[in-house]
Amino acid sequence: AYEKLWLALSIVLILALIGTVTYGAVGPGVAMVADSQSTVDPGALDEDDRFSEPRVEQVGENEYEAYVVAYQFGFEPTPIVVPANSTVTLHVTSRDVIHGFEVAGTSANAMAVPGEVSEITVETDEPTEYGIVCNEYCGAGHHVMEGKLNVV
Ligand code: CUA
Repeated sequence: AYEKLWLALSIVLILALIGTVTYGAVGPGVAMVADSQSTVDPGALDEDDRFSEPRVEQVGENEYEAYVVAYQFGFEPTPIVVPANSTVTLHVTSRDVIHGFEVAGTSANAMAVPGEVSEITVETDEPTEYGIVCNEYCGAGHHVMEGKLNVV
């Protein structure tokens, strides 16, 4: 009879552990679910449909596209405002040198490279304000380069 009790207890413990791990992976915030790349003429961002006006666009019921330009020393637009419980694809490029684009405290991370477009798809859940940091050394203002992602 004791063996069965121990077996039952072990199963409960294992299930509790799996529950914790799963919850940790899908917990509140912003989670990166996909990434890809394309290109852009770095000298003609102002004539490019995507980047002439950095912005967030709604493209489906819960789907958004954000066009983000990094520069010495900031991000456009700031803040990037997206709704909770949505899927957002961020298209990130740079107007000058290589920068990083990291949504602090989340798995969302990309490079901002002149001539390249990093495309990362994230899923948002609860309303939260995130800082965006540059994690590539990009010059004298690197340490003050920051943006905001507001999930509303
Ligand atoms: Cu931009 Cu460091």
